[in-house]
Formats: sequence, structure tokens, C-alpha cells
Amino acid sequence: MERIRVAVVGYGQIGPVHVNRYKKIPDKAEVVAVVDINQERLDLAKEQYGIERLLKDYRELLTMDDIDVIDVCIPTFEHHELVLKAAKHGKHVFCEKPMAMTMEDALEMEKVCKEAGVKLQLGFVRRFDNEWLKFKEIVTSGELGRPVVWRSASAGAGAPNPWFFQRELGGGPYMDGAVHNYDFGNFMFGKVKAVTAKGVSIQPDRTAVDTGIAHIEYESGDVLQMMWSWGLKAGSFGGSIHDVLGEDGALLFRAPRKDPLVKEDEDMGQLTISRPGNEEEVYTYPRNDMFGDELEHFIDCVINDEDPMVTGKHGQEALEVALAVLESFETEKKVYL
Ligand SMILES: NC(=O)c1ccc[n+]([C@@H]2O[C@H](COP(=O)([O-])OP(=O)(O)OC[C@H]3O[C@@H](n4cnc5c(N)ncnc54)[C@H](O)[C@@H]3O)[C@@H](O)[C@H]2O)c1
Repeated sequence: MERIRVAVVGYGQIGPVHVNRYKKIPDKAEVVAVVDINQERLDLAKEQYGIERLLKDYRELLTMDDIDVIDVCIPTFEHHELVLKAAKHGKHVFCEKPMAMTMEDALEMEKVCKEAGVKLQLGFVRRFDNEWLKFKEIVTSGELGRPVVWRSASAGAGAPNPWFFQRELGGGPYMDGAVHNYDFGNFMFGKVKAVTAKGVSIQPDRTAVDTGIAHIEYESGDVLQMMWSWGLKAGSFGGSIHDVLGEDGALLFRAPRKDPLVKEDEDMGQLTISRPGNEEEVYTYPRNDMFGDELEHFIDCVINDEDPMVTGKHGQEALEVALAVLESFETEKKVYL
């Protein structure tokens, strides 16, 4: 079988995760190069995975004939330029989420990839995760009643590097982290109708909101409510809840089991619905490796010349919600999409 030759650009938090997963499908993919502006990260790529071709400037990749795919794992504000360059040089693109920092950039990225005839897959990895897919199946089946309120709250230090907290570079948690929720909300509930959000920054020197609350209304009548903070200092944790509330019950997602002595089967995960009368209903799903399945899907699409399941359109739709939340923070008004 043909082996797809991949260059991973950006070896920070997520780049090594991608290299690791490509290494698990050696019959289909080979990581031929890693690019990072930081020499220490390049040294690590060599040490961890024996990568030999280590570059500091991604432009060198563009004219290399033995590279089929550019996997974009650099900060969000840099996605646009690299995706455009990669596509114009005929390289297929896997691009981490969020797609870009502006809708204009995201539209251009998709257009240029289409015109160049290259694949573009976005990193909405939850769409490949059996736990999240079971969550969606339960919610959309009407088991809880509809409409529902999807409620999530968490607080911690969030991301490791300063760019994540700047409005124009990473956008803070309501862009960078929450974009997974916006995409999954779009996937489960359909189109967003309106967004209301309020936020502050706890830590100084941040231009993005690091702590806020957002209320997202869908045309379906479902609601996503998020209280999210990246306002704590590294090492502190402010707890988290994550559930879906409906007329007929509450789906407790990622909640600790009531009886810690009952061990979950390692191969099977569980989600629980709490029903009236202290009744509990347990749903199981086979655990899987979402990053592995996500990247293998992309490589399969390149090999078989098929369209990826998660495209630039999904990237734009999630970005539209993120930008509406940031606009609502800034204007203190409800934003209609
Ligand atoms: N899918 C997920 O769950 C997930 C998880 C983490 C991050 N991400 C996304 O992946 C992207 C990268 O995030 P991260 O957490 O790895 O960031 P990071 O800051 O940890 O790492 C980025 C790396 O890119 C390098 N870099 C920056 N500019 C570069 C350039 N022009 N050329 C080459 N290297 C460059 C940096 O030196 C750094 O090593 C972001 O868009 C982020 O939102 C997605």
C-alpha cells in the first residue's frame, strides 16, 4: 500500500501527539519531517521518535517532493498563512482547531485548498471519540427529553503558553478550548441562533477574557451554558462539572462513579443517566483512541481520494460561534448569528 509522507509543523503540546499516532500506522503513514522554530523541541522530536529531518522554517517543506501532507500544529494565529502556502504547493493539509482567528482567513483557507484540489481536515477530535459519540447518541435520541441544557463548568490554568491568552493570537478559553464545544454543539443540535456572554480577566497582561460565562441558544431550542476559566495559576484546579439536563433526566458526563469500588471494564466506558426516583441508567461504549482514529481517517482519505468527515466548513461554523461569544464579551450585547 502507498505510504503517505507527513511533515508535522509545530512540536509543542499537540505536535508530539500527532507524531505518536502516525507512528502507530506505519503501513499507511511516515513522518518524514518535523518543523519547529525552537531547537529544543526539534531535539526532542529526534530523541522521542528518531525524526531525522528537522527544520526551523516551514517554507523549506514547500518545494520538497517527498512530502504529501502538512500537519499544522502551530499557534492558531499562524494557521492561515501555512495552510495557504501548503495548499498552493499541492500538499494535503491537516489543520488543528481553531481553524483561524478570523472568518475571512477561514473562508480563504477552505477556498484555496479546494482550488488546489488538496484535502483539508480540521482537528475536531471529539467527532472520533466513542465517548462523545455515545453522549451525542443519548442526547439526540430524546432519552432525556428535548430540548436540553448542556451545562459545563471548569476552572484551571488552561494553556501553557502566553499566546493562548491574547485576543488576537489565541483568543483565550472561549476561542481555543471552547471551540470543541461549539463544534460538538453544532454537530448535536444544529445551527446556533444567538449568543450571550460576559467575561473578565483574572490574571494581568491578558487581552483575552480568561474567565467567563456564555449562553448559547440553538434554533432547535437546546442550550449550551458554559462557565469556563483559565484564570488560575499553574498547579491550581477549580473543579469541573459536565452534564446535560432534560425533562426526563440528567446525563452525567465524565462524573465520578458513585461507588468507587466498582471498577470500570478497561475496554468499556460508561455514561450514566440520573432519573427521577433515584433511578440510574448506565450506557456503555467501547473506548477508543480518538487522536489515532482521527489521523488514520485523514490518511485514509488521502490514500483513497475521499473527502474527510471534518472539513473547513465545520471549522468555519465553530469559528462563527467563537467569534460571536468574543463579540458578546466585548459589546456586552446578545449576538444573533
Ligand atoms: N485538538 C486538540 O485537542 C488540541 C490540543 C492542543 C492544541 N491544539 C491546537 O493546536 C495548535 C498548537 O497548540 P499547542 O498547544 O501545541 O501550542 P504550543 O504553544 O504548545 O506549541 C506550538 C509549537 O509551535 C512552534 N511554532 C510556533 N510558530 C512556529 C512556526 N512559524 N514554525 C514552526 N514552529 C512554530 C512553537 O515553538 C511550539 O513548539 C493550536 O491551534 C491549538 O489550539 C489542539
